[in-house]
Amino acid sequence: MNVNDIPVIAIDGPSASGKGTVAQRVAGKLGFHYLDSGALYRLVALAGMRSRVDLADEKVLSDIAARLDVVFVDAEILLGNVNVTDAIRVEACGNVASKVAAYPQVRTALLERQRAFRQLPGLVADGRDMGSVVFPDAILKIFLTASAEARAQRRYKQLMEKGIDANISTLLQDIRERDARDSSRGVAPLRQGVDTRLLDTTSLDIEQAVDSVLKQYAECAKGHL
Ligand code: DC
Repeated sequence: MNVNDIPVIAIDGPSASGKGTVAQRVAGKLGFHYLDSGALYRLVALAGMRSRVDLADEKVLSDIAARLDVVFVDAEILLGNVNVTDAIRVEACGNVASKVAAYPQVRTALLERQRAFRQLPGLVADGRDMGSVVFPDAILKIFLTASAEARAQRRYKQLMEKGIDANISTLLQDIRERDARDSSRGVAPLRQGVDTRLLDTTSLDIEQAVDSVLKQYAECAKGHL
């Protein structure tokens, strides 16, 4: 079987839209593999910060991206044998990741690593450019979003549940700034492609969003038989 025949569901969208949770659950229901591509950009950011490199140096960061010694074990992420599952989720790391992700050489260095996740019986990949760049032949492409206010509320709730102190207006401001940066960069900007279906989850819960993706996938898969 050709690797390009392995089905991919691409779920792109802005920060805190819930796409990670939805993508993971869809993968679980279908028994598919799951790629959290944002984690890779967060890992490059964390590795860069920990080794105190100049975060404006694209070449150094792309070398880090090419050499990332990362292992995904279930829900845990190990970077050079250190468990960084929680460390990559802090807001500061997300902000640096968004800057690092604007470098074309970093994006190129991560391309093959992302494509290697395409394995039988299928893959659900979430990020910003899954449908446009990494898996342009994905069988289903979803742009999953929600209003900035709804996303700030969700992020706030998530952080509170983890016992991390947060301020809702700072979160909203961060989300707006990150959206602007991710959407306006020259390479692989965040935007809904013409072949991508919009899923606005502002007034949907997770189960409803998951059901919608599964239903759309079933229709696409039928069309491919
Ligand atoms: O989805 P996330 O918040 O974990 O992503 C962290 C940053 O990485 C985000 O600001 C944009 C960037 N990113 C990207 O440019 N392309 C992707 N496919 C995934 C994430």
